[in-house]
Amino acid sequence: MKGWMGKAKAIFLLSFTALLLAGCGRENLTALVPKGYGAEQSMKLIILTTVVMGSVFIIVCIILAFVLFKFRRKKGQEDFIPKQVEGHKGLEVIWTVIPIILVIIMAVPTTLVSFDLADASDAKDHLNIKVTGNQYWWHFDYEGEDIQTSQDLYIPVGEKVYLNMISTDVIHSFWVPAISGKMDVNPENVNTMYIEAYEEGVYYGKCAEFCGPSHSLMDFKVIAVSKEEYDKWVADMQNYDPEKDKPESAIAQEGKELFEQNNCMACHAIGSSPNQVGPNLTNFGNRSKLAGIEEHTKEKVIEWIQDPESLKPGNLMTGKYPKLNDDEAEKIAEYLMQLKATDITPDSAGK
Ligand code: CUA
Repeated sequence: MKGWMGKAKAIFLLSFTALLLAGCGRENLTALVPKGYGAEQSMKLIILTTVVMGSVFIIVCIILAFVLFKFRRKKGQEDFIPKQVEGHKGLEVIWTVIPIILVIIMAVPTTLVSFDLADASDAKDHLNIKVTGNQYWWHFDYEGEDIQTSQDLYIPVGEKVYLNMISTDVIHSFWVPAISGKMDVNPENVNTMYIEAYEEGVYYGKCAEFCGPSHSLMDFKVIAVSKEEYDKWVADMQNYDPEKDKPESAIAQEGKELFEQNNCMACHAIGSSPNQVGPNLTNFGNRSKLAGIEEHTKEKVIEWIQDPESLKPGNLMTGKYPKLNDDEAEKIAEYLMQLKATDITPDSAGK
């Protein structure tokens, strides 16, 4: 009875784990459905190593089963001692050489891919973006373009884009599983990697290095759009003048005034200002997520500006400004939700 229970438990655990892992395969957030150059190269290595190691496992199982069956002790052989092969030269050579060959089969392509993905020799011929990791958000500075954004990284589809990455505080790791491998983002030095998306669409990015209480909430998006849409986005961003952008409604206008009175501009920039103490809010109205993780609705924005700590523990915004009452928070939220420099949005990508 006990043995049966053990088996049932094992089967349950196995199916549960399989079910849980199956849930990891969200589209555009999985390395197993690659949609970019780096992810595609990684996938080839995943397949190669899985085939090699899987074959070893299967072959060893077959040999083991064969030996167990063929050489099991038979009736009348109780005192029989089989031929001893300890130190057999042929066997020793075989089980030394085979693993070496297998390691070479896996190591050579892995090394080639690693060098390929780290090759930045043609960086100056491509778009370069300075990526800054912060607890717990990302900033993107389009080098030489006079464009600054946060959280949403717009790139042209099918083109190599170089990311020069640094952190303002602790070590983060930039990871967009569906289009690229991971790269550490350090405070001391710039790490460079390139990404290339094959299809238009929104790709989900994660911080992949434990960096504090809200590490798992440090999400961002890479939005790959057509060349035409990208050019329009660049032109819209460059032509955007926050001074000339009048709020859409009287409530939003009041929100703008409250935004200024509460000194929000000390940390947040609107337009291409280099100020990046906090996320740049130029396209806040076009974001698909609030703070990277929450639903992008006015209600959530109100909740966020009244108590950011409850949504993203350890963030640097908490306590930096006076407490806002419901009326003030609603007006500021109204103002933020209508901030748009362009009509190219995550929703329009790939449509
Ligand atoms: Cu940043 Cu984890």
